[in-house]
Amino acid sequence: MICMGVTASAPAKVIMFGEHFVVYGEPAIVLAIDKRAYARVEQRKDGKLFFRSLNLSLSGYFENGNFKVEEGDAREARLRFEPLKCVVDKVLEKSGERVGLDIEVNSAIPVAAGLGSSAATAASVAAAVSALLGVKAAKEDVFRIAFEAEKITHGTPSGVDPAIATFGGALMFQMDTGFRPIEVKCEIPLVVGDTGVNRSTRVQVMKVRGVMDRHPHIFRFMREIAREIVLEALEALKRGDLEALGELMNLNHALLYGVGVSDESLEWLINAARKAGATGAKLTGAGGGGCMIALAESERIGKVLEAVQTAGGRAFIAKKTDEGVKIEQG
Ligand code: PMV
Repeated sequence: MICMGVTASAPAKVIMFGEHFVVYGEPAIVLAIDKRAYARVEQRKDGKLFFRSLNLSLSGYFENGNFKVEEGDAREARLRFEPLKCVVDKVLEKSGERVGLDIEVNSAIPVAAGLGSSAATAASVAAAVSALLGVKAAKEDVFRIAFEAEKITHGTPSGVDPAIATFGGALMFQMDTGFRPIEVKCEIPLVVGDTGVNRSTRVQVMKVRGVMDRHPHIFRFMREIAREIVLEALEALKRGDLEALGELMNLNHALLYGVGVSDESLEWLINAARKAGATGAKLTGAGGGGCMIALAESERIGKVLEAVQTAGGRAFIAKKTDEGVKIEQG
């Protein structure tokens, strides 16, 4: 049975420890944070798949395999909506229905900043369309579909973004073993600061590869340190030890700085956060711009936020959320 309209949502993510070294097989720790992407889906009378992004001011539709833009730049609209169309097609395939749909997405997650906005959007579209069409979709199904969409968006992603958007909470991720939920005994009050500097994950990953090629012996030790930081961080998360976590974040950032993926804009915000009393701060994700995170005791978090904003960052306070993809209404 098809109902009137359904809204679903999924969370953003931050990589708390282990980015870049994860590419070489080391573990990383990822958290879902309480900023979400939303998707509202309704059935249409015609056969069109009509997409609208409220946050990007883009809209257009697919009809008989062709894309027609209605609002915004045609190329950008197609780029954003093609992965979402893949999501919808997969659910339609499962349902055996061939219906037209209005799919409206709205993401409160900064776009292209390494916070997993595209994966959260894909997961929420998968969940909303499944619920609308009465297709049973376990979280594993939503994850698989969102992962396919991410391959269109990012080429060869690790899968960590769709995983955290779907399951929420905190995950440890490693290339050969995949991801597993981890135990966290405390609130993790973070300030996320977006430098607003555009970066490319691919370029930053290549930069690190260059360092490894030129200094294989040193890089091997850096990998070992990165692994040790993640293992100690797991223990600190279990104990709820914010002091230790902050210090480990600083150590992790030092490694990332060492392999060349920090930049002036990140350093500026990280220093501002530390000066304002953060227990630790580091870049998160690919680096070279994008976002940093700072950890602070609850009573200091306001000051740290203010400092990062004053230093020019677009910043907000984020907390870990255990809520992965979910139906909001429908
Ligand atoms: O900024 P993001 O979300 O694209 O994170 C990239 C994380 C890296 O470790 C640098 C690359 C990867 O594929 O894991």
